[in-house]
Order: sequence, then C-alpha cells, then structure tokens
Amino acid sequence: MGRRLAAAALPLPLLLALCWAAAGAAALGMNWGTQATHPLPPKAVVQVLRDNGVGKVKLFDTDFAAMSALAGTGIEVMAAIPNIMLADLAADAATAKDWVKRNVQRYDFDGGVTIKYVAVGNEPFLSSYNGSFINVTFPALQNIQNALNDAGIGDRIKATVPLNADVYNSPKQTPVPSAGRFRADISELMTDMVKFLAKNGAPFTVNIYPFLSLYLNDNFPLNYAFFDGGATPVNDNGVLYTNVFDANFDTLVAALKAVGHGDMPVIVGEVGWPTDGDKNAKAAYAERFYAGLLKRLASKAGTPARPGQYIEVYLFGLVDEDAKSVAPGNFERHWGILRYDGQPKYAMDLTGQGRNTMLAPAKGVRYLSKMWCALNPNAKDLGKLGANVDYACTFADCTPLGYGSTCNGMDAAGNASYAFNAYYQAQSQKDAACDFQGLALPTETNPSTAACNFTIQIETGAAVVRGRSAAAVLVALLQVLVVW
Ligand SMILES: *[C@@H]1O[C@H](CO)[C@@H](O)[C@H](O)[C@H]1NC(C)=O
Ligand SMILES: *[C@@H]1O[C@H](CO)[C@@H](O)[C@H](O)[C@H]1NC(C)=O
Ligand SMILES: *[C@@H]1O[C@H](CO)[C@@H](O)[C@H](O)[C@H]1NC(C)=O
Ligand SMILES: *[C@@H]1O[C@H](CO)[C@@H](O)[C@H](O)[C@H]1NC(C)=O
Repeated sequence: MGRRLAAAALPLPLLLALCWAAAGAAALGMNWGTQATHPLPPKAVVQVLRDNGVGKVKLFDTDFAAMSALAGTGIEVMAAIPNIMLADLAADAATAKDWVKRNVQRYDFDGGVTIKYVAVGNEPFLSSYNGSFINVTFPALQNIQNALNDAGIGDRIKATVPLNADVYNSPKQTPVPSAGRFRADISELMTDMVKFLAKNGAPFTVNIYPFLSLYLNDNFPLNYAFFDGGATPVNDNGVLYTNVFDANFDTLVAALKAVGHGDMPVIVGEVGWPTDGDKNAKAAYAERFYAGLLKRLASKAGTPARPGQYIEVYLFGLVDEDAKSVAPGNFERHWGILRYDGQPKYAMDLTGQGRNTMLAPAKGVRYLSKMWCALNPNAKDLGKLGANVDYACTFADCTPLGYGSTCNGMDAAGNASYAFNAYYQAQSQKDAACDFQGLALPTETNPSTAACNFTIQIETGAAVVRGRSAAAVLVALLQVLVVW
C-alpha cells in the first residue's frame, strides 16, 4: 500500500476494507498513451492514477516529463522502446547499453521511477507491418535484456515484447484454444524469443482485444465478447469457453506449451473497449466489458488453462488520443476510460467489487476559452465546403461523424461545423484556424447536441506541471545525470 495511512486511528474492519480495495486496483495496470493534439499534463495523469489507486502504468516511450511525474510515486512502470528504434538497438549492443543507461539507469534510484519492465517495441509482428520489424525485434530484445543484466539490474527489470494476439492461432480444422500454436510464418522466431524470455525469467506480453474480434467479423456472437454469459460456449474437449478473452489467452498458453514453456508468466499488455467510431464502440458496451473483466480479475479465477491465478493486466487505455492513426478503424481515437480531458465516461470499479461509480477525474485541467468554430450562416461559396471539410478532417479528429458514431446523422451544415470546430480546437483556437475561405466563424454559442459533443480543447504542459515536487524531482534527476 505504501501510502502512510493513519493506521492506528482507523477501526480494523475499515482498515481491512481499505487495504482490500487498494490492493485490488493497485494490482491493475493502465496504458498511458500520448498521441493527442493536447495531451493531459503528466502531473495530472499521475495524480489521476493515484486518486484511483492504480498501481501500474505502461508507457509507449520513456518521455522525460512522464518519467519525472512518476518519480517517487511507487507506481510500477513498464517503459517502452518505439518500433522505429528497434533496428538501431538490434544492430549494436553498445547502442542498447546506452539506451538502458539513458532511459532506465537514469531513473533507477531511491525516489526515482519504479521500472519493472522494458517493452521492446509495440506489436512489432502485426501482419499490417508487412514484416518490417521481423528481423530486428528479437536481436533488440536480446541486446536490451543483456544490457540490463550487465548493468546489474536484470534481476528486477525485465525486457519483454508486447505482441498482438495475431502471433498465434488455432488451425481452421480445430478452432479450439488447446490447439493453439504460434503463427506459421514466425513460429521459429517466436520459439527462440520464448526461450530467451524464459532464460531471463521475463514474461510474455500479449494484447487481447475482444472488441476487435467483434469488429472484424460480422458473424461474431456479441455475448462471447463479454463476460456475463449468453453466448453458446465453445467446447474444447469438454472445457467450455464462454468468452473470447479466456479462449484467446488459453490459445497462447497452448502455443507456449507446444514450445516447452506452458508455465511462462503472461502479461496482458492491453485490453479494453472503445466508446466511439463504430457501431459497437459505445460507452454502454465498454461499461459492460470492464464490469465483467474487472470482476473476473479480482476473483483471481484465472482461465481454464490457468485456473486460480491473478492475471496481470494493463487496461487500454487511460485517455482518448485524438491524433492516433485511424488505419485500424475510426474507433482508434476513443479507447480512453477517461475522455481527452480526464473526465470519466462511464461507471466502473477498478477493484472489481462491482461497486460501479464514476472514477475520480483528472484535477487541475484547464480548458481553452468557451469558443467554438462553426459554419458561417451567411457563407456564400458553399461549393468550396467539401474541400475545406476534408482539410479540417485531415488534421483534426472527425471520427465521431462516421456511421454508428455519436455525431452521425447531422446535415451537411452540422458536419461542416463539427469539422471546423475540431480543427480550430486542435489548433488551440488560433484565429486563423477558423476561417476556411470565409466559410467559418468563431462563436460563443455551443453547437453541441445531446448525443454529439463539440469539444473545447484543454491547455497542455506548463499549466499544471508547475509545483514544488516536480522541481524537486527534476533536481534529483539532474544530479543523477551529473553523476553519470
Ligand atoms: C503493407 O503492404 C500493403 C499492401 O502491399 C500496403 O498497402 C501497406 O501500406 C504496407 N504497410 C506498411 C506499414 O508498409
Ligand atoms: C529479413 O531477413 C530475411 C532473411 O535474411 C530477408 O529475406 C528479409 O528480406 C528481411 N526482411 C526485412 C524487412 O528486412
Ligand atoms: C456527414 O459526414 C459523414 C462522415 O463523413 C458522412 O457519412 C455523411 O454522409 C455526412 N452527411 C451529410 C449530410 O453530408
Ligand atoms: C460533452 O462535454 C462536456 C464537457 O465539455 C461534458 O461535461 C459532457 O459530459 C460531454 N457529453 C458527452 C455526451 O460526452
């Protein structure tokens, strides 16, 4: 628990209840992505994690401001290396040593960052990458773990590779979890990687997305994506699977077993449900999904292949990211448990006790002025509208306009206003960003409807980051740098 509760002053049952609740959420991890035009300030993110009792966080890099905000909190961190760096780290052990020095050892001091894992790449074997990272991921993993070992910290900091669940599957003719094997085209590579992870006592990390099973297959049974029953079970030699999360997890367990490591620890690096951008991406489903998932995790039920275990899980994700690529789908910018501004979207209980309430929101978030951008009602040259809307939507997030999304079904004028406002906010309400060849005008009237939010962006960076503790951590970090 770490935080010094005034233990003596509390009655024992209350204390136990608090410990139980705190332990529940403390075991839970959260993904903190920052691909937003206006990311929440790191201090606000760390505070919202603490306010909700979240004890673990997974990053996608080792951003200095994020690491500084995490320093001294005791929150366990999975730091990460972006795919783009894998080739350099694979090519040269010295580069990996240097990376570890600058991004791990730098923060590894009393009062620093509690780094537990280094994620080497992010879903590098995704089929859609066309093999771009196939040859560099394993050598990069080896160089990073060896550098951690050489630095004398490999016993408590492990390198792992967060992989997409498409690195394994079951054969078409036996589509059951126990028949799981690593994907044929990378099976030798996966086997070697698993052996290396095992040798170093490192976990296998996999991202599991029941939402994507539903998104990618119109015939996928809806209830099988959730945990509250209603789907026809999949019968695997007498073992009945009632949800795709268990089935997917156990397919991996079978694949690991087939290469001689059926007992390797598995971390679920990402799991979650988006709330916009697709007909199945909605808050009600996200709420249902998390209610079931969190209850199961808290019950330590495990899966049929690994019963009675707590599964280490990182939810995806903490906040919406309005600048993520929408190549996988329009839902991609709406994975947040919290909105872009740190406000909760729906009720949940991170401790899995079923007391579903709204999470604590981010504190100290400041919004830009109460100004929107909308279609100029007196605009004449509407022939230019299409091109201007396209421009706005290229540089701002218009995904809520699509089919099945919160702002779908508006008329052309509503669409244009939405697009213009999204761009104006993404540009931090710069005057020049609300013109569009005379088609747009700033307005103090909120164009939002009950279903469709014309959002106002937030201030980023300096607004909330100031404060004594941040400065103190910075000084400590700088001192460590000087020592190097
Ligand atoms: C992968 O190949 C497809 C089809 O050849 C192409 O459209 C896509 O851009 C490629 N992706 C990457 C990341 O190279
Ligand atoms: C990976 O290595 C194989 C075998 O050496 C080679 O054929 C392939 O082109 C390489 N792939 C990339 C993306 O470099
Ligand atoms: C509004 O935009 C959406 C998404 O681009 C589109 O599907 C829809 O047809 C547009 N509506 C009108 C009336 O133009
Ligand atoms: C719309 O945004 C406001 C804050 O700007 C928020 O309070 C409200 O809950 C949002 N509504 C929806 C439907 O998301």
